[in-house]
Amino acid sequence: MSFKAVDYQSLDVPAAPFAEGGRVPAFPAGAVPRHVGVIMDGNGRWAQQRGLVRTEGHRAAEPVVFDTIAGAIEAGVRYLSLYTFSTENWKRSPSEVHFLMGFSRDIIHRRVSQMDEWGVRVRWSGRRPRLWKSVINELETAMERTKQNTTIDVVFCINYGGRAEIADAATAIAQEVAAGNIKGSKVSEKMIAEHLYNPDIPDCDLVIRTSGEQRTSNFLPWEAAYAELAFVPELFPDCGREVLWRAIDEYVHRDRRFGGVKKS
Ligand code: IPE
Ligand code: IPE
Ligand code: MG
Repeated sequence: MSFKAVDYQSLDVPAAPFAEGGRVPAFPAGAVPRHVGVIMDGNGRWAQQRGLVRTEGHRAAEPVVFDTIAGAIEAGVRYLSLYTFSTENWKRSPSEVHFLMGFSRDIIHRRVSQMDEWGVRVRWSGRRPRLWKSVINELETAMERTKQNTTIDVVFCINYGGRAEIADAATAIAQEVAAGNIKGSKVSEKMIAEHLYNPDIPDCDLVIRTSGEQRTSNFLPWEAAYAELAFVPELFPDCGREVLWRAIDEYVHRDRRFGGVKKS
């Protein structure tokens, strides 16, 4: 197999947002989704199409992640959840898992200053067991360093599974029932929401999945129960802020009814 060299410099994002690229569309006031989730899919296929190993696709995704964050800031998105590594991704080859763990750790380490400058508050959603300690350490350092930032919360969903999150909430509630703090017959939706990984983060309004796949793959089943879904054909390394803006533009024209009837 032959390997083509990729010029990562040319793929890199500018040091600060707002510098280059197209202009953010003028979305109607108050219409931009508060919380957007992105299922960043298609890295492996992007690499394979170029005769590269799958991990090269993950590398090519890094600048796209930061371009997407920049685009979310420009659009006025307040919370951005990025599906980075799922509880199911441990099924991949040991070498790919090893790469993804080390790469996630390194990206958080390398990019924390940039995120801090942009006003990003770094968050993490996921399960502790099995996740590399060095990844958790970098996440915790970044979260501590950026905890006062208020421009946007970027939630890295690493070792995240929606069913795991709900099961973890159920475990925490069961412990409180056993301790006599909660009545077992009184478990409410509100109580479950309060025991999710980041209970202060509002429900997800828009989930974008790249690469043409039309499924949510265990991403935010509770938080995105009423989200609008946007499936875009581009593989994630071919995306960027324009893809995000296109999905937001589609979202602002959707009619969200939440089971009710819209007043005409
Ligand atoms: C998304 O791209 C990245 C992760 C799931 C970590 P994939 O690695 O799933 O790429 P495809 O879907 O196989 O092309
Ligand atoms: C979803 O992508 C997980 C992440 C983007 C981290 P996958 O590629 O793992 O999902 P499936 O296998 O297509 O459902
Ligand atoms: Mg995939």
